[in-house]
Amino acid sequence: MSKKLYIETLGCAMNVRDSERMIAELTTKEGYEVTTDKKEADLILINTCSVREKPVHKLFSEVGGFLKEKKEGAKIGVCGCTASHLGSEIFKRAPQVDFVLGARNISRITEAIKTPKFISNDINYDESDFAFADFRNSIYKSYVNIMIGCDKHCAYCIVPHTRGDELSIPKNIILNEVKKAVSNGASEVFLLGQNVNNYGKRFSSNHSKMDFSDLLNEISEVDGLERIRFTSPHPLHMDDKFLETFAKNPKICKSMHMPLQSGSTSILKAMKRGYTREWFINRALKLRELVPSASISTDIIVAFPGESDEDFELTLDVMRKIRFEQIFSFKYSKRPLTPAATMPNQIPENIASARLTKLQSLYNEILDEISAAQLNKTYKVYFEELRENQTIAGRSDNNFLIVVNGSEELLGKMVDVKITKTSRTTLYGEIQS
Ligand code: 5AD
Ligand code: SF4
Repeated sequence: MSKKLYIETLGCAMNVRDSERMIAELTTKEGYEVTTDKKEADLILINTCSVREKPVHKLFSEVGGFLKEKKEGAKIGVCGCTASHLGSEIFKRAPQVDFVLGARNISRITEAIKTPKFISNDINYDESDFAFADFRNSIYKSYVNIMIGCDKHCAYCIVPHTRGDELSIPKNIILNEVKKAVSNGASEVFLLGQNVNNYGKRFSSNHSKMDFSDLLNEISEVDGLERIRFTSPHPLHMDDKFLETFAKNPKICKSMHMPLQSGSTSILKAMKRGYTREWFINRALKLRELVPSASISTDIIVAFPGESDEDFELTLDVMRKIRFEQIFSFKYSKRPLTPAATMPNQIPENIASARLTKLQSLYNEILDEISAAQLNKTYKVYFEELRENQTIAGRSDNNFLIVVNGSEELLGKMVDVKITKTSRTTLYGEIQS
């Protein structure tokens, strides 16, 4: 009988892809089979996130839960970003953990499961050309890593301490991954990196000079590929060449993530974001002008140390000016090893909560208007996920989530859908024949 693997993934798309890669290694090389029942698992993996404090707390409570429920002799491995930055402290806080495997070290998973108290959390470990075995949760959502790590060192962010310095993955490796995904049935690929539009800054070996726009154009020539998405670009690197490539290349989905973080230039400076409020607004409006159908999503942090009421108002003002189609908003969370953690003027929790509530209610108002305006429009939808009650969900080119009645035969298909009903986060429609 094959051994069973249970894996829990917290955090971002990068972590989802890392989990797929660990599954691939364990199923093809070590004879494991994935289970959704932790009680029958021989190996339990938690792929952790450390970007905010909450998921770190969650890790230790989850480990406690697993210890109660796991079958005798089952091993527990802690992987990912929290494994990177807490390292051997995880063994101290949770002695029953069998191994610790940091983000960027996951190619060592087969070694980790065989070595007592194995730990590997070197944040600059280079596995960019490791030949991982193949596995995807769904071929219709094919993530392809193009970069690892981050050089930006934003003052609030722990990622440079969990995923190390920025390295671009060689073009040929990326193109091969894209071709493989397409030959397995994907029409869309999702490129991943912390700062994708800084692609090409540093490779681990000799590589011809190229930037993200060049990479996008080359990928778009892959036969059979219809759509390219990517996350996350950085507003600082949104030069004209990049915006024009985005606008002109029909295979690039017209959905741009532009993480604002704050609408106040002085807070952006304290955050070390490298751009001003004016630069951000200029880039977003230029994008709206070049591609009126594009949707723009953003990340916003409220209550960064020193944020005054006026600074916060400036963030709300950018929201009113740009009218983002999607917002991910967070209260500032103090992270170890980051400069912001020791800054004066940390904002009290009650003020942070009030600001988040205010920001989210403004966003809901804007979003309700944007959603309502989609009624009767027709979008080409790429279907990627079966839902309950004989419904199926997909995304328009500009990233609206659209649900229709339908089943499996629509998976992976690109179909015109007319919007017949709208809600704040989901559009419902009918297939046009
Ligand atoms: N506190 C709150 N939010 C954070 N993010 C990153 N670090 C922190 C932090 N310390 C948010 C940023 C980033 C997103 C992935 O998470 O908005 O873009
Ligand atoms: Fe992803 Fe950042 Fe969380 Fe790591 S810390 S899983 S890179 S969001």
